[in-house]
Amino acid sequence: RPIALIGAPTDIGASARGAAMGPDALRVAGLQTALENHGLRVLDQGNLSGPANPWQTPVQGYRHLPEVVQWNQSVFDAVSAALHQGHLPILLGGDHCLGLGSISAVARHCAALGKPLRVLWLDAHADFNTSALTPSGNLHGMPLACLCGLGPEALTQLASLPGGAPALRPQQIRLIGVRSVDPGEKRLVHEQGLEVFDMRYIDEVGMRQTMQQALAGLDASDADFHLHVSFDVDFLDPEIAPGVATTVPGGPTYREAQLCMEMIADSGRLASLDIVELNPALDLRNRTAELAVDLVESLFGKSTLMRAPSSPGVR
Ligand code: ARG
Ligand code: MN
Ligand code: MN
Ligand code: MN
Repeated sequence: RPIALIGAPTDIGASARGAAMGPDALRVAGLQTALENHGLRVLDQGNLSGPANPWQTPVQGYRHLPEVVQWNQSVFDAVSAALHQGHLPILLGGDHCLGLGSISAVARHCAALGKPLRVLWLDAHADFNTSALTPSGNLHGMPLACLCGLGPEALTQLASLPGGAPALRPQQIRLIGVRSVDPGEKRLVHEQGLEVFDMRYIDEVGMRQTMQQALAGLDASDADFHLHVSFDVDFLDPEIAPGVATTVPGGPTYREAQLCMEMIADSGRLASLDIVELNPALDLRNRTAELAVDLVESLFGKSTLMRAPSSPGVR
């Protein structure tokens, strides 16, 4: 299945400027060639366009809501079209507010085909704020809540299935790598019953068991799961990934991140991906973009092991 690269150069939902340069930084780091070298067909569809960032203060708890809606609408349209053509879409963000448009399109696609969907949200943050809870008004802190039906109507409407149900039920989500959640947000995440694998959990049981649990059930023979990965680059430890605006210390190491990606690849279910929050303005000689490309190669099946990824004992 060919991969479609969809660039969304905007920082409209973010806390700092710069994520708008993410798509080109990933291209410069060689994303397309890296995937092609593994035998994949890659179609770079170029960049979407949308409103400029007016850099204003929040209005009723939301910063740049109309612009965020516009960007997400075009991401929704582009991801829908790619899925419809049988492509595997990779959204090149852009900030994480765009996960709303991307996952809304994926959820609709799955609903139409009767496919079960699971979303892995790899992130230092839960991105489960609402206007009442957010400390910042930044919409990149809210997409997951909106996808579950909690948010401004303009966004929850985009993130709804035909018939009106929210794009996602909390049980479909696995939060991985979390280490910075706002107090009210924490309560809401618990209330909604999201499955959270925070950094303490990863410290205690290790990445291997964490991923086994996060991927559990995907191999059910009676269900052809669609696995969506929303990869916020701030998931990674800032020591290895300085090129993001919202760094939080204590993230996965290089080896842990590789294992996480390799185990997702082994599931054989990856069907759509977001790479978001990469901020080249804060990066060092594009090394975070290069790291992201390296990890995405693993996500698509490059193995560092001297044996086939599916051989016994590896899983
Ligand atoms: N929780 C904080 C907020 O709501 C930070 C969110 C960071 N989100 C992100 N996608 N980097 O403002
Ligand atoms: Mn390679
Ligand atoms: Mn984050
Ligand atoms: Mn995020």
